[in-house]
Amino acid sequence: MSDGKMVKMPMPRMDSVTVAVRVRPFSQREKNSGSKCVISMHSRTTTTIQDPKNPEHRKTFTFDLAYWSHDGFQKDKDGVFISTDPSSKFASQKDVFHDLGRGILDSAWQGYNATLLAYGQTGSGKSYSMVGLGANKGIIPNVCEELFQAIEERERNQEYQVTFSMLEIYNEQIRDLLSRTKQPGGLKVREDQHLGFYVDGLKSVPCGNYAQIERLMEQGTKIRTTASTNMNASSSRSHMVITIQFRQVFLDRDLTKQSTINLVDLAGSERQKSSGSEGDRLREGSQVNLSLTNLGNVISALADAATGKKVLHIPYRDSVLTKLLQPALGGNSRTTLIAAISPADICYEETLSTLRYAERAKKIRNRAVVNTSTLMRESKAENDRALLVRGNSGMAGKLSQEQCRSRPAAGRPGVGWREGPAAGQPGARRGGLLSLPQEQWIMKTLPHLLNVNEDPQLTGVLKYFIQAGSCDAGRAASNAIRLQGLGISDKHASFTNSDGKVTVTPHSKCKVVVNGVPIVTKTKLQHLDRIILGSNSAYLYIGFPSERGSEDLTRFDYDFFQLERAAAEGVSVDKLGAASHGDGKADPGMLAVFQDYVRLMPLVAEANQMGEELKKGLRMELKVKNLAASDSRGHELQKEVMVKVTNQRTREVWIWSKAKFINRKFLMEELYQRFLDGEDSHVAQEDDPFWDPVEVVHLGSAHIWLQSLAYSMKLEDQVEFMNCEGEEEAVVHVCVTPCSPAGRACGEEDVVIDPSELLGKRMDFQVGLVRCLGVKWLKEDTERGIQMGYRIYDLSSTLYTKPVWKMVNPQIEETVQFTALNASQEFLNYLQTDALIVDLWGLQEGCTQLDCSQSDLMVTSEGHVMVDTKKMSTLMDPGQVQISELYMKLLKLEQETELLRDTNRALREENVFLKQSLEKVGSTQQGERLPHKPSNTLKEMNQMYTRPASSDREFAKALKLFYHSMNQARGQLLRLRQEKPPEEDEMLRPFVQQQAQKLKDFGDVLESSLRRLKNDVAVIVKKKRASLPQAE
Ligand SMILES: Nc1ncnc2c1ncn2[C@@H]1O[C@H](COP(=O)(O)OP(=O)(O)OP(=O)(O)O)[C@@H](O)[C@H]1O
Ligand SMILES: [Mg+2]
Repeated sequence: MSDGKMVKMPMPRMDSVTVAVRVRPFSQREKNSGSKCVISMHSRTTTTIQDPKNPEHRKTFTFDLAYWSHDGFQKDKDGVFISTDPSSKFASQKDVFHDLGRGILDSAWQGYNATLLAYGQTGSGKSYSMVGLGANKGIIPNVCEELFQAIEERERNQEYQVTFSMLEIYNEQIRDLLSRTKQPGGLKVREDQHLGFYVDGLKSVPCGNYAQIERLMEQGTKIRTTASTNMNASSSRSHMVITIQFRQVFLDRDLTKQSTINLVDLAGSERQKSSGSEGDRLREGSQVNLSLTNLGNVISALADAATGKKVLHIPYRDSVLTKLLQPALGGNSRTTLIAAISPADICYEETLSTLRYAERAKKIRNRAVVNTSTLMRESKAENDRALLVRGNSGMAGKLSQEQCRSRPAAGRPGVGWREGPAAGQPGARRGGLLSLPQEQWIMKTLPHLLNVNEDPQLTGVLKYFIQAGSCDAGRAASNAIRLQGLGISDKHASFTNSDGKVTVTPHSKCKVVVNGVPIVTKTKLQHLDRIILGSNSAYLYIGFPSERGSEDLTRFDYDFFQLERAAAEGVSVDKLGAASHGDGKADPGMLAVFQDYVRLMPLVAEANQMGEELKKGLRMELKVKNLAASDSRGHELQKEVMVKVTNQRTREVWIWSKAKFINRKFLMEELYQRFLDGEDSHVAQEDDPFWDPVEVVHLGSAHIWLQSLAYSMKLEDQVEFMNCEGEEEAVVHVCVTPCSPAGRACGEEDVVIDPSELLGKRMDFQVGLVRCLGVKWLKEDTERGIQMGYRIYDLSSTLYTKPVWKMVNPQIEETVQFTALNASQEFLNYLQTDALIVDLWGLQEGCTQLDCSQSDLMVTSEGHVMVDTKKMSTLMDPGQVQISELYMKLLKLEQETELLRDTNRALREENVFLKQSLEKVGSTQQGERLPHKPSNTLKEMNQMYTRPASSDREFAKALKLFYHSMNQARGQLLRLRQEKPPEEDEMLRPFVQQQAQKLKDFGDVLESSLRRLKNDVAVIVKKKRASLPQAE
């Protein structure tokens, strides 16, 4: 949008919150996964969201402003995003500032307090709108710059005072971002009768021009970056609050006007997915999102109050953030909320929740007043305030000098390794925002490392110059370069700059990864190499000036590092997807799993590192649930990322869902922080995020195809249990035997040629789990045990075998007889198309075993478990099994009677017909042949009675053999589909050869079983023909 197009927005009614929505462009991740845009904005105030699962379902929200920043833009020569053409509805940073930023400035000049909050899920563009990125400056720098510009232009008989403070709230702890010394436990919020809530000890620095504010923001960002090097993701879980106190003194009128401007970049608003973590016994423990959750509660309560509902209590006091924002929420402030949203379909749920949040915030009513005072009153208040914060090292006046003087003279050439001053913006990499010429000079001449953070605002903030000679890097103060971060040792690595080369050498076992690959020896670095030190501290290496070109450094963002590392570890969409799809295309579900996997990889590394330092003895590994598993029809199951946790000493194993892991990771960070702060990091076992009671673990599943049952044939087989990765966990010896109600196994004479012959009949069969062989789980630790469980067709609960402990090849010998009283078509279809899935469960000492009592199942009078009860269950109450059984018998009898009646009718008709024919024959002198139909009927009847019963039996035998080999073929096919290609390229050829051989074997099995069936049938037909000539 050009300047000419801008229309000044009228501020909304003074007492309501101004709400703006802004939609950003697709991120690289979203583009890679082929996301679709579900947001549209048809006017300057409406935002429409479309449900990707149900495209007709759209919801339109109307707010004060709707900013379209999704497309229709291009980069100008300075790197600023501008509209492509005048018709584009693109909203630039300037447009957003024009409405929202100027609104805040207007309020401030008039003496109102003003608050701007940015709300939205992680990566939705909150910080981009608030702070900006590179040349695209956000609202905060623009507000500060314009404030001072306007001050310069004002009359001289007025005085202006501006103070600046910057804090971060993480885990309910406040950190002063303008102070280098970290207060253990953070700063405290106190309450004063007149002043309300305030942060005790927070530095508030007087500033005389915009450059000072800019430098303070750089410092604050640097402190935030250093603090977040331990855990990259922590910045998106913290709230940043910048407060500008603006005071105007009208000397001629003995009057002051005071405005507090709060600019708040909130933490990412991800809703904890209820599934997964809800089962976690420590779900309530984490405080990471307490402030955000409570902000939501306060907003909801205020919205209710504004719409006339009775609200007794607004929970301002329940969290740090809401205490500080009390004036902004239903109090003395003009408040603006910018709801940042992603355009992508995969973010639909989160985006909808953001819009609903904004809708509630819109209802809040504030009572902003102009804060004026006489100078007399002011000085008294100032005295009171001074008394209140007496002895507090954070007093504004004193600190201002200290702060303004505290600009470090870092980065001078010749001073060895040292951190350069904070640059604040990644643009600084290209020399955009540096204040010291020396530093620019060093950057231009020396090779250096730039930090890369998950939060793009914190990327490129730390710089480590590599001077000629050799230097150590690590945690200890004695190092020329001091690094912080998880898994960084006191002496971690050394860097050498000599003969125009830079090399890095890891110390002893310290983790150093270059371009995704862990290194153990001296390694030469090249311009733009990616270096990860410790568990996840990422740096981009900038080489000698001669090596540099005009590369776009923003390409090497956090995602780039993680994807590279994942690829080096053999994780890729193709790799994960290859297990399931052979068509070369990864399905979208798989892409989502892959992205989750890559996102969680560094988190798992961090969790492992924390566990190691806290001596927890755990090993956490990422796995994909159901990676190679399929449902009862052989279709793939939904895949999701999970974390396998193993206690290395006791060998206990747990499986955590993604949500549970993320929840636990927050708690681990809290504990680890206490440990770093030198506090007591000991916790009771039940509060320990690294601990859980032992539980039963799912080891794998076996598919037992039931087709033979549909032909009343016995199946006896050894079937593999496959784990989630498609590897064999054990083998089960299983028998599925059709039988009589009394349990006598059916013989070949009972085999049916067409399953529909069984329709409506009583079917009895036994499922026998005979023995388990080579159970890996038990081989690893013989103290363990197993249970098996399965659920057939419509059974209401799973049947578990009794636990067996301490045997690698446990004898199970458990047989259950099932009865379908009146086999339905659906049940017969199920038998022909589905497999019985038997799950193998691992037991470990102290875990609760699975209930094998089978108490809540429907049983027949003989005590057999009833299946195929769907129809019956609509007719009866559960528990009334006996009645239902009688009812079924009655139904069956009725059906049989009906059949008999039909036969009777047919016979009678035939009798009449025969009688007529006989009469006809008698009356015909020429002795004509009998009419066609009866002759045929007689022939059929004749055949029926003379056909040897043995041909049926032989036919059944042939079929039985055929189905048995089909079962084997199916198993083979399933295994083939689940095999993954090897990681190493050189192994690919043998793998392909192996696969080809297996395919050939598979083909041979198919061919030979078909051939055999054909032969058998031919022999039977031949025999039958031979026995029938007299009937022809
Ligand atoms: N309007 C926009 N135009 C161009 N790029 C944008 C826009 N909004 C956001 N981005 C980009 O999207 C990415 C995520 O944005 P940002 O860091 O602001 O998210 P956030 O909401 O602050 O996330 P977090 O909660 O993790 O801090 C960044 O790379 C940013 O540059
Ligand atoms: Mg952010």
